[in-house]
Amino acid sequence: MLLVSRKKVKVRKIRVDGTETTEVVQIERKKTLIELLPEIVREGRKEAERILERISEGNRVALQTNELVLPSKEKSGLFSGQVKASNQTDWLNRLIYGDNLLVMQALLAGDKANGQPSMRGKIDLIYIDPPFDSKADYRTKITLPSGEIEQKPTVIEQFAYSDTWKDGTISYLKMIYPRLVLMRELLSDVGSIYVHIDWHVGHYVKILMDDIFGKENFKNEIVWKSGVVKGAKATSNKYGRVTDSVFFYTKTEALYFDTPYKPIDLDDPNNKFVHRDKNGRLYSRDNPLGDYSQEMIEKFEREGRIYYTKSGKQQLIRYLDEVKGTAIGNLWDDINVINQVAKERLNFDTQKPEKLIERIMSASSKKDMVVADFFAGSGTTGAVAEKLGRKWIVADIGKPACMIIRKRLIDQDASPFLYQSVGDYQKEQFEKSEFKRIGDLAHVV
Ligand SMILES: C[S@@+](CC[C@H](N)C(=O)[O-])C[C@H]1O[C@@H](n2cnc3c(N)ncnc32)[C@H](O)[C@@H]1O
Repeated sequence: MLLVSRKKVKVRKIRVDGTETTEVVQIERKKTLIELLPEIVREGRKEAERILERISEGNRVALQTNELVLPSKEKSGLFSGQVKASNQTDWLNRLIYGDNLLVMQALLAGDKANGQPSMRGKIDLIYIDPPFDSKADYRTKITLPSGEIEQKPTVIEQFAYSDTWKDGTISYLKMIYPRLVLMRELLSDVGSIYVHIDWHVGHYVKILMDDIFGKENFKNEIVWKSGVVKGAKATSNKYGRVTDSVFFYTKTEALYFDTPYKPIDLDDPNNKFVHRDKNGRLYSRDNPLGDYSQEMIEKFEREGRIYYTKSGKQQLIRYLDEVKGTAIGNLWDDINVINQVAKERLNFDTQKPEKLIERIMSASSKKDMVVADFFAGSGTTGAVAEKLGRKWIVADIGKPACMIIRKRLIDQDASPFLYQSVGDYQKEQFEKSEFKRIGDLAHVV
């Protein structure tokens, strides 16, 4: 990809003796991101198409199972019985170590011989929190309650850090585009995707997502208050950056969505539940009745749910204990970041609070639906999915991240799950090869 544009221009020069001459000179200018976007999209599409073609030609990336993790004796006993009875066809949650481009390729292809059907169109919810150019996202040192583990990043991880970010935002967009295309392929027709992003790349990622998922399938930009204004330096020439964005898209209009509510805040100055009936029940009486049919109004009348104001206006009585609460909008300022002493804290720098994922997962999936996170980090998505009874697949390119996830789920007494990885042979081929970009591992394979 050419990052500069070159233009030849004629320049008029005046010699010392006063005569004129013209010279052709080449001017170089750095292309703007907007100028580069069409190429990023074109290349990203091609890369995704190549992968999908390879799958249809039967050229497959296989996942190898390293371990069947059995966190609790109780559940695993039950599990082995189930496996025998069901001839290993039961669903098993999966933690996968490897570059998600390959992981998704393998999931799309499936591995029938090993009882793993293709996951194309089978994932109901994807949440991702892809890192942006920050060393914190590729930790090599992790602290577990049992001690500290230090690990040099693997060759792949080093590429992931040094090479993925070579051209800053451009590299990031090139990295994310084909991955988002594969995620769309994995989504079911009722499926949703949530992409957690911040000010660095958010606005560009929105444009890419419109292209991949369709502008009509953009549902919300959730603005999460992820911090507090800190220090004079951060605010000397701009406002403190205290929010992240989460872009919410669906695959189709047939999405699954269960509106989340929060309890009504009785101390809110706009609270309307300020009246009490003779039994002490709080109610509001401000709804205009204009929206209801005559039949409904008569029903309310029979139930004693209509209040007549002094001026003779009718108002509907709604009891606090009968309403679901306040529907949650796209501004989420009620979920705190993980603080120093939080119980769920794992010392993983970019760990997101479980409450945030819980809200997303409760709204956009129901029990037994399949959820996935291909930039899993400390495994918050897996941990929440386990608690909420969803089936899950999580993947990360970092070995330390996978170790944290494995331990987190064991500590949580999760149901048995598979710890898999992109085949070692394929990784070795990549390390030996001259390809130096993380996405190229797919081509080597
Ligand atoms: C910001 S963290 C995710 C944090 C996570 N949401 C949590 O709550 O812990 C991003 C993760 O993406 C992983 N990652 C980056 N590039 C990847 C790739 N190509 N394939 C798989 N994982 C990748 C990093 O190793 C890192 O752990």
